Amino acid sequence: MHNRCPPQRQVDGLNRHHWWRDAVIYQVYVRSFLDSTGDGIGDLAGVRAGLPYLKKLGVDGIWLSPFYPSPQHDHGYDVADYCDVDPLFGDLAEFDLLVGAARRLGVKVLLDIVPNHCSSEHPWFREALAAAPGSEARARFHFADGRGPDGDEPPNNWHAMFGGPAWSRVTEADGRPGQWYLHMFTPEQPDWNWRDPEVVAEFDRVLRFWLDRGVDGFRIDVAAGLFKHPELPDSDDPEADARTRDSVNPLAWNQPEVHDVWRRWRSICEEYTERDGGERLLVGEVSVPTAREHARYVRPDELHQAFFFDLLSAPWDPDAFRKVISEAMQDIAGTGSTVTWVLNNHDQVRTVTRYGEPATEGSGLGAARARAAALLMLALPGAAYIYQGEELGLPEVVDLPDDVLTDPIFHRTGSRARIRDGCRVPLPWSGQASPFGFTPGAESAKPWLPQPEYFAEYATDRALADTRSFWHLYRDGLQLRSTLPQLGEGTLRWLDAPPGVLAFARGDDLVCAVNFGTAPTPAPVSGTPLLASGPCPAGVLPGSTAAWWISS
Ligand code: GLC
Repeated sequence: MHNRCPPQRQVDGLNRHHWWRDAVIYQVYVRSFLDSTGDGIGDLAGVRAGLPYLKKLGVDGIWLSPFYPSPQHDHGYDVADYCDVDPLFGDLAEFDLLVGAARRLGVKVLLDIVPNHCSSEHPWFREALAAAPGSEARARFHFADGRGPDGDEPPNNWHAMFGGPAWSRVTEADGRPGQWYLHMFTPEQPDWNWRDPEVVAEFDRVLRFWLDRGVDGFRIDVAAGLFKHPELPDSDDPEADARTRDSVNPLAWNQPEVHDVWRRWRSICEEYTERDGGERLLVGEVSVPTAREHARYVRPDELHQAFFFDLLSAPWDPDAFRKVISEAMQDIAGTGSTVTWVLNNHDQVRTVTRYGEPATEGSGLGAARARAAALLMLALPGAAYIYQGEELGLPEVVDLPDDVLTDPIFHRTGSRARIRDGCRVPLPWSGQASPFGFTPGAESAKPWLPQPEYFAEYATDRALADTRSFWHLYRDGLQLRSTLPQLGEGTLRWLDAPPGVLAFARGDDLVCAVNFGTAPTPAPVSGTPLLASGPCPAGVLPGSTAAWWISS
């Protein structure tokens, strides 16, 4: 009896389900998804070719990482033109074909919008460089005079997230060293000044440009950024961002004015909904210190969703998982929104490797735990995001040689610690050797990051053919999610469980349990599970395994 519970899905006055509240969205890192041209870099036509694969997997939508014209200092998060496609990835006509194809398959399309900073090649920044101090062109950014007798010290002591000072000095028209500009990431990514009305208006235009082309919403980069403390004062701990690689400088992030922007953007989305009934989604990359702060971003008139990163940052430990899940349910669900769960993305070490620490060669522990975590995430109330390759169980590529690393974090800090190339290696699709069908033509074609030989084991054709693969686990989980009314949005009820096990109920009768330990424990429900992340005989929950049951 699967359908005993009444549906928990929230509907509006017209009885329409808000699709995003429990949507599962697949993050496409475009340059690493599928290459249609043979230049070794994935592109929009590749994404279009991959849509049937994603449809078969069962996702509700895709989020495309930035594909706009960009010098690619931070792989497109340095945008030189917000309303076009970089020739590396295609053109606007190809973009339109992609949106049309996705629409026909019923797959939503979200774009990645980058409002905190642009590229130093953006025409407005070039104009600002050419203009005089105090000009309107400079007011769109954070230009300030330096300190010290010759103004040769930065205006404050902040450090950039990717290392080094957050300020760079410019040369003025007369050839002399002049003002400084603020960049919280790299010098090639100057921060916009959101107190300037032209910046506000320009982003309204950008949103409308893409909404008019049929997109279903936006993933918002650095959504707790945008505003800085108006006086730009010194920080007590100026290197905190670079040290933690997180937005923790309280003067540079999470300023109250940012909420006005999300209200404004929400109302633009609502305008489009009023026209045709289709809800447009705003999902924010919100890094703030507490779940309570996070909840402020998803108030009913602000963002629809914000990635809840605490699950991603939690160690493989039942108490840690239970704590972050409980906090999210209490603080975020209390706003009327749903929690947006995420275990992987293009900035983080992949779960298979992360949960495999300390590495026990050949034990498969990381993979088993990553599979269990996936079932846990898909059973939680709310929405979920899957990062490409997660459905294949790809591990992090940890041994890339220094000379191929492209992450600005590596080049700006000289450190391999927490670099992001290892989770961005192009996907394997088929075959025994690189490029594994990623790029068409000869095997001599070189993907932009080298794929290790062992990627052969993870290729999508093998994954589809093997019912024990990660791919089948994700596909089966997604299928059950879409058919069982107990899953998706709603609440959860924690159940008593033996030490090392987390168990919760969804609706009246769906039980999800995860054994974080390595030894088997009695299962919380007798009988065969509906779905399990590994072999799971009736009555037993093996170590590093999660399962779903319907209790009788
Ligand atoms: C976000 C993106 C990351 C990028 C940074 C700067 O954190 O996810 O990839 O480097 O913003 O735009």
